[in-house]
Amino acid sequence: MTDSPNPASSSAISVENVTKKFRVYHERNQTLKSAVMRRRRSVHEDFLALDDVSIEIPEGSTFALVGDNGSGKSTLLKCLAKILYPTSGTITTRGRMAALLEVGSGFHPELSGRDNIYLNGSILGMTRPEIDAKLDDIIGFSGVEQFIDQPVKNYSSGMYVRLGFSVAIHVDPEILLVDEVLAVGDAAFQEKCAAKFAQFRREGRTVVVVSHSLPTLRSMADHAAWINKGVLQVAGPAAQVLERYGDSTHASVRIDDSGRTHSGSGELVIEEVEVFGAGGPGSQVRQGGEMTVRVHYDALEEVTDPVMGIGIEHTDGTYLWASNTVDHGPRLGTIKGRGVIDCHATSVPFAPGGYVVITSLTDTTTQHTYDQVRDSARFTVDNGAERWWGGYIQSASGWSVPDGAPEPLGDRVTE
Ligand SMILES: Nc1ncnc2c1ncn2[C@@H]1O[C@H](COP(=O)(O)OP(=O)(O)OP(=O)(O)O)[C@@H](O)[C@H]1O
Ligand SMILES: [Mg+2]
Repeated sequence: MTDSPNPASSSAISVENVTKKFRVYHERNQTLKSAVMRRRRSVHEDFLALDDVSIEIPEGSTFALVGDNGSGKSTLLKCLAKILYPTSGTITTRGRMAALLEVGSGFHPELSGRDNIYLNGSILGMTRPEIDAKLDDIIGFSGVEQFIDQPVKNYSSGMYVRLGFSVAIHVDPEILLVDEVLAVGDAAFQEKCAAKFAQFRREGRTVVVVSHSLPTLRSMADHAAWINKGVLQVAGPAAQVLERYGDSTHASVRIDDSGRTHSGSGELVIEEVEVFGAGGPGSQVRQGGEMTVRVHYDALEEVTDPVMGIGIEHTDGTYLWASNTVDHGPRLGTIKGRGVIDCHATSVPFAPGGYVVITSLTDTTTQHTYDQVRDSARFTVDNGAERWWGGYIQSASGWSVPDGAPEPLGDRVTE
């Protein structure tokens, strides 16, 4: 981030009052005769895919765009990539941009993978010598070397995306736009992409990503916007925006007296969640020590075999740990009225820092949510006097020189 020229104060992309209308034609008669005979009078209506959308995408941010199917996310990305033009409003972008939109876009099916790298690379603004110089890296990252001289029409969608993503990142973009497509890659490739996004972020580049996977977005995005039916609902820090979008997909949302947001059907509710260490309620959670998460619930109606789950996130939104009564606990049987259940953890691995507990109560199938509170409790972990070298997890570690290996030079250079 340090080499990003002006991180907080400038936007990589400004979207101002952007509206995109599509003209939708209603073809009542599909016969050739009627098509030929029809006068030049077609029935159409305007469809508003984006309605007066304004968003600032900060430079160096990893920006998530979320919304239900058909809400206008891809349309907005295409406008950012200048594949579509807004009907009204303006979009200002600062920096070299590369986009990975639909599977196969920018590829010619009859050409080989290698030729398509040149085609796609030049569409994205690379010169031929630039592509020559990066060709081996592009092929290497894509992992499709074996097929690189075959026409891409024989590629699977995963192979298309690997090659497309590899070209896009090698354009050395300051802004990278990615629409969903990465989901078709296998787990290993998705991990490789996640690492690439993290690197881009460290380098102060801007990534705009559309995805339906909220867990993925929670771990990678720092800013987000939620669009619904072409209308911007909210934009801002990713954790809040994604929570609001996530909540909107639940049946009902309620805010309790302490300001916590509950979502779910409400027969069984989470009243309070406490987190404490080995010393009992109120005690500090120590790294390497014991931890108890105590959930106070109230079953307003009789409920049979509910499943309680807790998840732990770092305060930066990274999802770290989970436990539930199906995998790790007893069946709760039939419950009615108030009660308490504890989740115990031994040798807490979390590094010193602040953590958030997500608590959920579902039915046996886990498909029906009685209640879920995303920010149900917060706690901090400390490790006494020990030093901490970073990361989310801390566990015992040691160093040694294996037998027969050359001695480190350390001792000999001391004066
Ligand atoms: N070229 C087009 N002509 C007419 N309507 C279009 C066109 N492109 C998109 N639309 C319509 O605009 C709306 C928004 O589409 P868009 O593809 O942007 O949604 P999305 O948020 O990307 O959805 P998904 O999550 O399914 O990918 C949809 O109703 C779609 O049918
Ligand atoms: Mg889309």
